[in-house]
Amino acid sequence: MKALVLAGGSGSRLRPLTLSMPKQLIPVANEPVLRHCLRNIRAMGIRQVGVVEGEHGDQIRAALGDGAALGLDLTYIRQDTPAGLAHCVRIAAGFLGNEDFVLYLGDNVVVGDLAGAAEEFRSSRPAAKLLLAKVADPSQYGVAGLRADGNVRAVVEKSPCPPSDLAIMGVYFFTPEICAAVDRISPSPRGELEITDAIQYLIDAGGTVSAQPFTGLWKDTGTVEGLLACNRLLLDGLPPNIAGVVDAASVVHGDVTVESGARVTRSVLRGPLVLGAGSVVEDSVLGPYVALGPQCRVRKAVVRDSILLGGSVVRGGPPVTGEISNGRLRVTAPATSSAEDRSAS
Ligand code: DAU
Repeated sequence: MKALVLAGGSGSRLRPLTLSMPKQLIPVANEPVLRHCLRNIRAMGIRQVGVVEGEHGDQIRAALGDGAALGLDLTYIRQDTPAGLAHCVRIAAGFLGNEDFVLYLGDNVVVGDLAGAAEEFRSSRPAAKLLLAKVADPSQYGVAGLRADGNVRAVVEKSPCPPSDLAIMGVYFFTPEICAAVDRISPSPRGELEITDAIQYLIDAGGTVSAQPFTGLWKDTGTVEGLLACNRLLLDGLPPNIAGVVDAASVVHGDVTVESGARVTRSVLRGPLVLGAGSVVEDSVLGPYVALGPQCRVRKAVVRDSILLGGSVVRGGPPVTGEISNGRLRVTAPATSSAEDRSAS
């Protein structure tokens, strides 16, 4: 089985940050989302991975290289315009050949047993297998309606009247039948070739599309709320480790990770929290739920529930909260956000 990872798209919900970087490289708990995806793919026993990249492809390649460090063999596939998930499958036809594959959306973070789901697909080989998670607002997702036998009857994309509250997660298992289906569909009203339309094509042609309720944690990190929620979840599980230097005038509460070369002076650290290698924090109050990337400088500042990208500088100013920032550009969770917890557990 191969994997196809989608790391293109426009990242419109995370602008202006995504004007200069791809959303899939935004770190959660100090690891880019895309790396979380690739580790899960490796755990499914897959080595050959196609990575669809868009306008920030150079940064994706610089971050992942040939994949050897992750035990993977990566092939990059260029998508000139973000014409939809099914378009990605179309342009990857040469890479996919006649093999089964997992389609993995590069902005989805999943913690749980994907290897078991892959194994079940390998032995049963339906035309497609979907992982489903109950959500509070299904109109934001692809949604599946099920038959009495548990297989999928219909799929719709971001419909105001979805047939159930079962969202389709961004990890899909396919036989090569999907490659014929993506060639037969037309763009949706929003102008994209939708993978849900290709899946519906398989169902209408008499194919079996199976469904498995997912029991782990799942987050679509395509929004600020999604990224921050994911950051909180992963920080909660991070084992504390102080490898850097925290001076005697600083106070540490809860689970805190200070990576090597980081230095903390006259500050309060409230875990869960991670400070990246080489960062310097002075006279500040950080946490809870802060992920500070490597080589950041924070002085006389208050930061909580935020992701600061590597190299960020924060000096004084109002408290930083509910933000993702590189020090110059920032995106903020709406104050009135109904940030739905998309975890499936
Ligand atoms: O997260 C699950 C949801 O993902 C599903 O429930 C939906 O059915 C599915 O359409 C998708 O919805 P999103 O609106 O979240 O998809 P998004 O546009 O964010 O794209 C998902 C990933 O694919 C992201 O890493 C960007 C990449 N992508 C997207 C498009 C449209 C590409 O590489 N090329 C593209 O043309």
